[in-house]
Amino acid sequence: MSIFPAPPDPRRPVDIAVGIQWGDEGKGRIVDLLARDYAIVARFGGGDNAGHSIEVGETKLALHIVPSGVLVERTKLLIGAGTVVSLRGLVDELDTLVKLGVDTSRVVVSARAHIVFPYHAALDRLLEKQRGGAAIGTTGRGIGPAYVDRVGRLGITFGDLAKPEVLATKIRQALLARAPLFAGAEGVPREEDIVGETLTLAERIVPHVVDDVALLHDAIARGERILAEGAQGTMLDVTYGTYPFVTSSHTVAGGACIGLGIGPTTVGRVLGVAKAYCTRVGSGPFPSELSDERGERLRAQGREFGVTTGRPRRCGWYDAVAARYAAQLNGLDGLAITKLDVLSGFGRLGIVTGYRRADGTPCGVEGLADPGLQVEVEEHPGWDVEIRDVRRIADLPAAARAFLDRLAQVTGVPVLAVSVGPERSALAV
Ligand code: IMP
Repeated sequence: MSIFPAPPDPRRPVDIAVGIQWGDEGKGRIVDLLARDYAIVARFGGGDNAGHSIEVGETKLALHIVPSGVLVERTKLLIGAGTVVSLRGLVDELDTLVKLGVDTSRVVVSARAHIVFPYHAALDRLLEKQRGGAAIGTTGRGIGPAYVDRVGRLGITFGDLAKPEVLATKIRQALLARAPLFAGAEGVPREEDIVGETLTLAERIVPHVVDDVALLHDAIARGERILAEGAQGTMLDVTYGTYPFVTSSHTVAGGACIGLGIGPTTVGRVLGVAKAYCTRVGSGPFPSELSDERGERLRAQGREFGVTTGRPRRCGWYDAVAARYAAQLNGLDGLAITKLDVLSGFGRLGIVTGYRRADGTPCGVEGLADPGLQVEVEEHPGWDVEIRDVRRIADLPAAARAFLDRLAQVTGVPVLAVSVGPERSALAV
């Protein structure tokens, strides 16, 4: 199902879908819907810190690393060069999919992607403990330490899995470099256990490892289309997010070029995915947060608990200041607004349209982390009717349409699609 108003430009075969808030925007289901128009869906960053739930028949399952087009037969699913991936996590996910009858030969992983080892996860948790009250609230999956190893040239790639003799040496070197940090710590994984497990898991994974650059560019040469799927959200980008309360990868659309080895001139359209309100997990600034009963209601009605960690998500109004910033960073062509149905029957709704510093002076996103930051909230009438069966934006209640129009206006980007319920088909365009 295409939600873009114009047909694609054949000279620009790559479209990108990214989250424009703090992650958990519901990118997975939007990508799932778009996927049938693409030969390849490719994840360009992050690891199994991400999470999306999908339904296969009666079964509901959480996926963390396999791209979201998994339910669309024939679409190839690439875990791209910009990702960092746990071998155990990937094997478990593939096993689950096999049990559900999914053809996992379609899932391939870049030889350039980096492996997240148990020592990365141990280090992630150790560093969080050391940060104490300033902890980032990471998912504890080892994502940050794995990216540190990549830039520190200590990382081990999926390509290395085919060379067992090199693997053991590289694991030893990486552990040696970490030894001072691990000194005296409990639960540090042992070298021989890691090497043993890696060699066992490698047998399962090696058949899925590909030269991703050749795969993508051969597909482009054949005239096929590619959908680049972002993980987390723009406000968690390692450079442009609410640093240091961010993840360790580039979550913005530009990250797709680096994380997949494609040039900017191949990119056609960029879709931003945003909830009709906002959520954040972990620590860090969140200006539109509702710390009262309304925040709790959003959490309960939206079932806002992390797919990866189960943590309750912080909830607040749609933040148009952050959204405008995200529209600039990503070069958005359109918005997919998710979970509009969660707002049905909520009463009056808010949109944060401006920030003010503690002394009352207006500011933009540069003031986002200021202590004492105030927000300007625009109030909107809500709607009481159920909207789950609506399939055309034009058929939504007038108050819901007015709310969407305002989201588009304050973000500066048209709304192209709206999710109105948890079922795969519950999308209005
Ligand atoms: P890390 O990516 O595990 O290092 O965590 C860094 C920050 O990003 C923490 O605030 C996490 O809660 C957040 N984060 C990581 N992945 C996701 C996600 O998929 N959704 C929402 N937040 C995430």
